[in-house]
Amino acid sequence: MKKLLILPLILLLISSCAKDTTPAPEVIEPDVCDSIPKSFATDVQPIFNDNCVVCHNSSNNQANGQSWETHAEIAANIDAILTAINHEAGKTPMPYQLPKLSDSLIQVIECWASDGAPNN
Ligand code: HEC
Repeated sequence: MKKLLILPLILLLISSCAKDTTPAPEVIEPDVCDSIPKSFATDVQPIFNDNCVVCHNSSNNQANGQSWETHAEIAANIDAILTAINHEAGKTPMPYQLPKLSDSLIQVIECWASDGAPNN
């Protein structure tokens, strides 16, 4: 007789456990780019000046003949630049034979690019 009472109890326990495994509601994250300063002159160009222009300048033909000194030069080549700095297949990884840029610097360039690479 006792066994008959225990069985419904076990079933109740199992079903309540099953409820606990319901996934938490999905957290909607704000767009990371919203909180990142991404002016070309203030935030983006200094990254190029510090990490690229030593090789990529108008008097240097070593770096594929490509200069990253001006907004126009950078904006016109932004897809190739993003591929190179993310070390993705298809482009030589940049900075050339030097450590990859930090994730936060790459993010500034990516967020500026996703805004349409404005001259701001
Ligand atoms: C130490 C010198 C040096 C530095 C620093 C450097 N580059 Fe380069 N870059 C080169 C050379 C050399 C090439 C040509 C490499 C090749 O053709 O394989 C090149 C080529 C490129 C290319 C074309 C790659 C391709 O495969 O077509 C891009 C885009 C580029 N660099 C972006 C950058 C960016 C952005 C930075 C800074 C974050 C940077 N580079 C820093 C030397 C440099």
